[in-house]
Amino acid sequence: MTTPWSQRFEQGLNPAIHRFNASIGFDIALIEFDLTGSVAQAKMLAHTGIIADAEAQALVAGLEQIRSEWQSGAFQPGIESEDIHYAVERRLVEIVGDVGKKLHTGRSRNDQVGTDLRLWLRFEIDSVVEMLRDFQRILLDLAKENVETLIPGYTHLQRAQPISLAHHLLAYVEMAERDQERLTQLRKRVNISPLGSGALAGTVLPIDRHFSAQLLGFDAVSENSLDSVSDRDYAIEFLNASSLVLVHLSRLSEEVILWASQEFRFVTLTDRCATGSSLMPQKKNPDVPELVRGKSGRVFGHLVGLLTVMKGLPLAYNKDLQEDKEGLFDTVSTVKQCLEAMTILLREGIVFNPERLAGAVNEDYSNATDAADYLVRKGIPFREAYGVIGGIVKHGITTGQLLKEISIADWQTFHPAFEADLYAAIEPATIVAARNSYGGTGFMQVRAALARAEARWQNGAT
Ligand code: ARG
Repeated sequence: MTTPWSQRFEQGLNPAIHRFNASIGFDIALIEFDLTGSVAQAKMLAHTGIIADAEAQALVAGLEQIRSEWQSGAFQPGIESEDIHYAVERRLVEIVGDVGKKLHTGRSRNDQVGTDLRLWLRFEIDSVVEMLRDFQRILLDLAKENVETLIPGYTHLQRAQPISLAHHLLAYVEMAERDQERLTQLRKRVNISPLGSGALAGTVLPIDRHFSAQLLGFDAVSENSLDSVSDRDYAIEFLNASSLVLVHLSRLSEEVILWASQEFRFVTLTDRCATGSSLMPQKKNPDVPELVRGKSGRVFGHLVGLLTVMKGLPLAYNKDLQEDKEGLFDTVSTVKQCLEAMTILLREGIVFNPERLAGAVNEDYSNATDAADYLVRKGIPFREAYGVIGGIVKHGITTGQLLKEISIADWQTFHPAFEADLYAAIEPATIVAARNSYGGTGFMQVRAALARAEARWQNGAT
């Protein structure tokens, strides 16, 4: 097996070590970006007079031929090539002859791999952002239909206060919004060109880094050649942002799983996204949210993995950096799969169960705060009112009555200020409507929040 360094070395690589060293098995995913980066490199070399125009044209034509060979399936580099960069260079020399050997002038695989990875990640960030928008779209659509649908709101997974279902769904719209913001912000740091940094120190040749950066759509060129070939903080930032996307999807998953249980029955799973049991005929399982919840683990793992790869590396490039790829690739594919699956789940995999939801908010003591607020409106200090209602709740629990079932005469034995209008004041719909503070669950607030979220979504359309 010949390698570019065959003339320097006396012996060939042990075949097992060759396999151990090779990254072609996974960095093949970068091929389109490697080709695009090399096309820009060839054009820059001609632009600066380092190679002749005709030579650059031959290189570009050869690279584009490799692209079509790849797209048609004709180009499938194997292990002999070590990595995608050598695979492309080797094929280029086969196609265009010796001029192919000029492509790597003024460049190292170190700045090349950084360029490829940044181009690839920039592309993937844009598609993850689009998928987050699709996920928000279905949440917004469901929220629109459910402003006045009530659902118990929980703290400590104990019934706390009833809320609008739309308000609950809009909480996830906000999380997805911040997820997009994080990706958009880190994209700026991804979109910097390391190309032309060489192996670590730059080059003696009169290259024009700004020219190639511009061809590749980078916003700027990196400032320091050592830093540009050896840092991966942008990838870590992406893994962090992805971990948070998964945290959010996983929390929603957990809720859907609870909601679909016999204990909650807030939603019914449709046949589109559920599976049966191989043994228990009655079962319908929420596999989709369970898988999303489970897959979050691998993404968090990749984040910790890359942090650990980086933490002890002396400047500049070290082969450890080849370990940046698989976790990053898996993260992108996992985040995209999970976003797609959750969007489908919300669109056609679950149906809210309105009777059950209405029943739920009517069968508990989650209107107790509002009974206290009733007294507050009559001038009784909140802490005192809170104590009075505590006594009434205890009475209700002992006598097996909900607050609305306790007679007004009984209420008045706890405090003389209670009158018959109390019952209307502790109706779930009334108490939800009354929480009219900005960002609260009151229907007016939810409608306004929905309008703002909708406008923001429309604004973000590209
Ligand atoms: N396959 C390598 C990687 O992924 C490319 C860079 C190799 N550079 C080197 N000096 N060995 O990091």
